[in-house]
Amino acid sequence: MSEGNVKVNVKPISDNYFKILINIDKKMVQYRSFVVDEEQFKNKSNWSSKIEDNRLKIIYNDEELTAFSDIHFKDGKIVLSNEIDKRSYIYGFGEKVLWLNRRFKRLYSWNIDQFIQVPLADPMYKSVPFYLVVNSKKPFGIYVDHPGHVVFDVDVEERNKVKMYIRSSHATIYVIRGKDVKQLVSAFIRLTGKPFMPPKWAIGYHQSRYSYETYEEVNSVASKFREIGIPCDAIYLDIDYMDGYKVFTWDKDRFPDPDMMIKNLHDKGFKIVTIIDVGIKVEKGYFVFEEGLKIDAFIKEPEDKEYFKGTVWPGVCVFPDFLRSKVREWWATLHKGLFEIGVDGIWNDMNEPAIFLMANKVRDFAKHLCENIESLEKVKRGFTITTAGLSPPIVKSLDGFVPIDAIHVDDRGEKVLHNDIHNVYPLLQAKASVKAFRNYKPNKRWFILSRSGFAGIQSYAAVWTGDNVSDWLHLKISIPQLLSLSICGLVFCGADVGGFADNVEPELLVRWMQVGAFYPLFRNHSSKGTVRQEPWAFGEPYTSYIKEAIKLRYRFVPYLYRLFYQAYAYCLPIIRPLFLEFPDDEESYSINDEMMVGESLLVAPITTPGSKARAVYLPKVRWLCLNDGSFLGPGWVMASAGIKDIPLYLREDSAIVTTEDEVCSLSKDVIKNITVQAFVNKEAKMLIYDDDGETMGFEKGEYYLAELRIEVKDGIVNLKFDVKNEFYKPSWEKIKLKIFSERSLDKIYLNSREISFRKVGSKLETEFEAYNL
Ligand code: GLC
Repeated sequence: MSEGNVKVNVKPISDNYFKILINIDKKMVQYRSFVVDEEQFKNKSNWSSKIEDNRLKIIYNDEELTAFSDIHFKDGKIVLSNEIDKRSYIYGFGEKVLWLNRRFKRLYSWNIDQFIQVPLADPMYKSVPFYLVVNSKKPFGIYVDHPGHVVFDVDVEERNKVKMYIRSSHATIYVIRGKDVKQLVSAFIRLTGKPFMPPKWAIGYHQSRYSYETYEEVNSVASKFREIGIPCDAIYLDIDYMDGYKVFTWDKDRFPDPDMMIKNLHDKGFKIVTIIDVGIKVEKGYFVFEEGLKIDAFIKEPEDKEYFKGTVWPGVCVFPDFLRSKVREWWATLHKGLFEIGVDGIWNDMNEPAIFLMANKVRDFAKHLCENIESLEKVKRGFTITTAGLSPPIVKSLDGFVPIDAIHVDDRGEKVLHNDIHNVYPLLQAKASVKAFRNYKPNKRWFILSRSGFAGIQSYAAVWTGDNVSDWLHLKISIPQLLSLSICGLVFCGADVGGFADNVEPELLVRWMQVGAFYPLFRNHSSKGTVRQEPWAFGEPYTSYIKEAIKLRYRFVPYLYRLFYQAYAYCLPIIRPLFLEFPDDEESYSINDEMMVGESLLVAPITTPGSKARAVYLPKVRWLCLNDGSFLGPGWVMASAGIKDIPLYLREDSAIVTTEDEVCSLSKDVIKNITVQAFVNKEAKMLIYDDDGETMGFEKGEYYLAELRIEVKDGIVNLKFDVKNEFYKPSWEKIKLKIFSERSLDKIYLNSREISFRKVGSKLETEFEAYNL
């Protein structure tokens, strides 16, 4: 179909994906994707399309799934509208500081440094140009596989349409389907890349601060954790560990002996994560700058003469051209020194890239100003001399487009405008970081945390939501923010627990720790110049409440670890909005303050100061309140919300595996006892997973996976352990079983053999040796 000078081609990719290519050239050029590898999918022909009344209809199994209209090219952009029926819910677009449903929003896909987020803040640090259109029957997703600037106008310009403005002369769009919304999300994640499997320690509690400034400070923070018995697995070093903020250097006065410091930390069961920024200081003699010059590693001004420069923490910087594989390889080599002294994780920051002032823009601006004082007008409109710190209304007035006028050179030696690939810059950096781990820690799993990102970054890095504020609103909004990242594939995500900017108050810190205990990434981080927010910062009784929250996280580790495996193996998010588990329950579509952790656990955190109770929506089935053992729902219930309470519910006919062992460090302590908690009225099935937690052995099948089936019938509980893979032997010695049921239960059989049990209220408890299975 063509309209104006636009040409559209279509191609079914597999049962899940249908591709639409739009191009202004007569000849259809195939653009390479940074994210999608179509080769892995098989062609099937259940898809078709046709043009009728100027609409491009996309048909699956003879039924229209969706349609596009008004496809044209205007003002340098490909414009098209996707029709959405008025009863559907629209979710997605990645990291937004918004409630889940996106109707009546205009949203941008363009990575920027969004310092101190407020509801007006958009775009954000990461871009995922993917949305889901969900109704109970035929959910579908749209992924615009474009790394440049895209505007999505949902319902604002025109009702019941997602209007897209893709700043490019070509676009690749995938229509995605799944048999339900969960399968659809999984299909999208598979399309853009399966999540990486982190080392086990990475799912523990992480402590960070901008910055722990000296070796003594790091040591005393670490010792304090062990002294008061608060679990913690990782400590972060922010920019002050470096010499003048120059990446891959150490400040030798503050950190005279990093090797020894890291060795001591390892002995205490801590891993260490160091920050790496992308800006490289322009300084004669600085080895990173000099090495980079030798291989021409930096992005350039559009005229190709000079390197593109801008200011970041160290002063005037140049920026690596991660588009070129040679530069990525070089970047990987720079990590050698860090890994040699034992650094365990890499924290990629400021990688949008964030630039305080761009030299070329300042120059142009000054020139304009001298020549024509009227150009002051441009200041009012937000002359974009920076990608950092522009106020949200200004960014909005620019439709989220804060360009960086620079060029890259690709592997074929061709020039590529930075603005055409801007959003994949952090993804390409993450690939280089993975390479570093592969080179220097070949059989170890990596841990990379990235601030910026694009669809697909889940294969390389965990992400956090950048600079939030120590405020109740930010705590509350972190839930839909992380749920949205999760359904957009960025499953290993977290927000700075306690809030980054401004001063946290004790009650807020307690509540944030309780919520953070269920974020996939559980990291406390705060800015310079704010009150301290380590778990003990406010003394008792707060320290004890926080300790409880962190310990709770560690109790759930066996369950969470299996969810991480499932994310890797089946492309499923770890935390999920309620509708992903209960697509037939329309009320669940609007719940923003609860989350499903995996398929079995519903968490309804407290995010309002002074709470004593909160309303909780329990979808579709019966639920077991894990705090008081009562059976509830479906429907709205009141939950007790005293300062120690985190309302937790176990789904009917499901089970979770936890531990009651005292674990302070997942890299050091061994879990010997696990507890299966099940709420069964008919039948529950649960997967148990474990592996060595650190090597790549799991890829070769070195893991333990079993399915536990618990069936309740006529007063008899039948337990069946079906071991599916045991090329790894878990450390568990004893398995405790707690079975809750609304039926009366009199007998338990384990793999057809009767075993004894105790009855405690409505639950049966039993225990057996793990080797019995
Ligand atoms: C950025 C990061 C923040 C970090 C700070 C200093 O603002 O988002 O997490 O602490 O830079 O490196």
